[in-house]
Amino acid sequence: MRMYDVIYKKRKGGELTEEEIRSFISGYVAGEIPDYQASALLMAICFNGMNEAETAILTDAVANSGDTVDLSRFGTLTADKHSTGGVGDKTSLIVAPLAASLGAVVTKMSGRGLGHTGGTVDKLESIPGYRTALSAEEFIAQAERVGIVVVGQSGNMTPADKKLYALRDVTATVDCIPLMVSSIMGKKLAAGSHSIVLDVKVGSGAFMKTPEDAEELAREMVKIGKRCGRNVAALLTDMDTPLGCAVGNALEIKEAVSVLRGETRGPLREICVALAANMVSLALELPIDEALSRAEASLDSGAAFAKMKEWIAAQGGDVAYIEDTSRFPQAPGVFNVVSDRAGFVTAIDALKIGLASVLLGAGRASKDEEIDHSAGVVLRKTVGDSVAAGETLCTLYTAREDALRQATEDVRAAFAIADTRPEKRPLIYKTVR
Ligand code: URA
Repeated sequence: MRMYDVIYKKRKGGELTEEEIRSFISGYVAGEIPDYQASALLMAICFNGMNEAETAILTDAVANSGDTVDLSRFGTLTADKHSTGGVGDKTSLIVAPLAASLGAVVTKMSGRGLGHTGGTVDKLESIPGYRTALSAEEFIAQAERVGIVVVGQSGNMTPADKKLYALRDVTATVDCIPLMVSSIMGKKLAAGSHSIVLDVKVGSGAFMKTPEDAEELAREMVKIGKRCGRNVAALLTDMDTPLGCAVGNALEIKEAVSVLRGETRGPLREICVALAANMVSLALELPIDEALSRAEASLDSGAAFAKMKEWIAAQGGDVAYIEDTSRFPQAPGVFNVVSDRAGFVTAIDALKIGLASVLLGAGRASKDEEIDHSAGVVLRKTVGDSVAAGETLCTLYTAREDALRQATEDVRAAFAIADTRPEKRPLIYKTVR
């Protein structure tokens, strides 16, 4: 097989055969196919798409390009979730213990922050002692003993996605549906859970900017997951506005703890309850209404919070920080950004808030940069709130005084304030099953 012919065929809109797709993935992972040919094929796929059969083969090839996790000993009880990425998206920190407290076995492999979006592994590393790398034996033993384990992606899982994602990031080929489906579902299939719930974000802070595009992505992922023998559901959720109030690693852990303690209500809790209920409904074959009321009850009774503490302790984290979140170190610089006019907050641009938090030290501008776990932004006003001139819109936490001016400009620009209260936007647009 000549790579030239494969690129040419896709460029002309042809359907790739199983052999062509599998040879591309194995050849690229082995370093036999250069980046320039892989880039050309990716771009041809962006222009001409892939049908369901091609996407399913590509997904399977990505999933099996490295190690896979065998969770068959847990039967159908295993449940995983994946978010397509957002700003202030700390749902995994809440949803994983919540679903585990209801009887699902939650084994999750999470990522680090990417661009303006945060990552669960960075957030968990705010907790002193928390181990994001476990051996395969430790991983399975903890899943058996505690019913929940959350680690970073192991060294040799889905190497095809690691290489392709880095290439897509610099060749403007990220937001292409068959490539996203194979990247996301490839990782989820390799991670082994029987049930998978996808949180597909829609809006300014997300890859999918419109509900229509997000729904197309969700439908494709559900279709491919089912074709590969898994239970899959996808929720389309808003990411025009950051989720919850905190953006930044330790700041988000604090907010997640407050939801798990049953102290914070509102959109973040609502999305987490819906995601956990869908996981439990699929894994335990419960009607969704029953799963929803069990999830609410677990937050109210403290069962979900107890499960979080058990999980963090099992992975070496210092639970004293979870019991008393004032122990997390506070950034040396704390600055309020105030409104220069009165009115109603009509929008908070998630992308701009995410970029400001990276400037403040909460994310990485380059791959190997250290992050500051105490840095970030806490929103004091949300969409629909009234605000007086001079009132605080948000608080910035940082050790980087030199980044303050730009970050302040960015967060100010993120807030839109008008004379009339905005219409309420949906938080969950749709569930696709
Ligand atoms: N997240 C992923 O893991 N892959 C994509 O392609 C897009 C978002």
